[in-house]
Amino acid sequence: MLMTCFLMILLTPFVESLNNGLTLTPPMGWLDWERFRCNIDCTNDPVNCIGEKLFMDIIDHMAADGFKDVGYEQVNIDDCWSLKERDAQGRLQADPKRFPHGIKYLADYAHSKGLKLGIYGDFGTHTCGGYPGSEDHLQTDAQTFAEWGIDMLKLDGCNSRVQDMDVGYPAMMRALNATGRPIIYSCSWPDYQRASGIKVNYTNIAINCNLWRNYADIQDSWDSVTGIIDYYGNSQDLFAWAAGPGHWNDPDMLIVGDFSLSYDQSKAQMALWAIFAAPLLMSNDLRKISPEAKEILLNQEVIAVNQDPLGKQGLRVLKSGNFEVWRRELSEKSLAVVLFYRATGGSDKEFSVSFKTLNITAAAVTARDLFAHKDLGTFKESFDARVNPSGVVMVKMTPQ
Ligand code: GLA
Repeated sequence: MLMTCFLMILLTPFVESLNNGLTLTPPMGWLDWERFRCNIDCTNDPVNCIGEKLFMDIIDHMAADGFKDVGYEQVNIDDCWSLKERDAQGRLQADPKRFPHGIKYLADYAHSKGLKLGIYGDFGTHTCGGYPGSEDHLQTDAQTFAEWGIDMLKLDGCNSRVQDMDVGYPAMMRALNATGRPIIYSCSWPDYQRASGIKVNYTNIAINCNLWRNYADIQDSWDSVTGIIDYYGNSQDLFAWAAGPGHWNDPDMLIVGDFSLSYDQSKAQMALWAIFAAPLLMSNDLRKISPEAKEILLNQEVIAVNQDPLGKQGLRVLKSGNFEVWRRELSEKSLAVVLFYRATGGSDKEFSVSFKTLNITAAAVTARDLFAHKDLGTFKESFDARVNPSGVVMVKMTPQ
């Protein structure tokens, strides 16, 4: 018997997990991709191109305009930052025309302002934009990023064999662990598997990654935002349970402050990303953002829901025509509830949702409107509110 136990221990493979202790609440910050794409033309478009100036400007605005104060911390470089060739030692190198002082300089600059720098790589031979990928270079690239003082890595999955990801993404996790530098690890792994029709093993993903993309890229449109919300609602049984302190589902960037969303739609994206316990990575131009968009992004009551320490992802509990109810359990027995009205015309409308639908057992709750910053009073048996078309009402409920 003893011998059998001994043999079993010997034969059980040692499973290493991501041990960086990071993202106990969803990461917050900024990522260039949706707004700035692969614009490498610093000659004709020096203000918007992927280069040192853009990131220094964003770092300055994050630190000075209140974003850092409410928790936005990461400033992340996406695709198209490197040269097309590795250096003589096989290391990735930033394009020296666009990043004249190199990436370490930017990381030092972010750190000097109390912020953090993220970077982008790819699991395959090339990134989605055609720059060198990390295939066969995982250790070297992890080491390079650590030496530069990088705090977060998004590892994309273009130009790779999707069936290798179950082994390859954990290999990068181990390479990051081995650097000794705590680096948030963002994986695109499940999204590529979903797109290829492979069943995603979220248990495995959650022990290897701090966050992971489940679904298609966000675009600057309301259709894109609602497409993601629908995927999260329709497929919640597949992956909502996998979220928790240290590991989060990532529905992609916030586009609040860009060109497409109305004021109500912007609040809707912010509210639902809070219900999703999603990473809050803005992709907008903080140098010219409207006061309304800024107010939404800086809403500390909504951010507090997103960052709730219980770390439980919320779920859609009702979908009836163009009306939805979303519910997230928070610490101290309170609840965040979003009423979402998806009409594309008409006026604001009164909705009522029963305590049964909300799974509330208390006789009464108090509700606070998190966008109006107003206590709405005590409710029994049901909650009702008027909601604008393509808009939300978001409340925090506390049992009495
Ligand atoms: C993929 C990712 C995007 C972005 C681009 C960059 O499409 O999903 O988020 O990183 O690549 O090329």
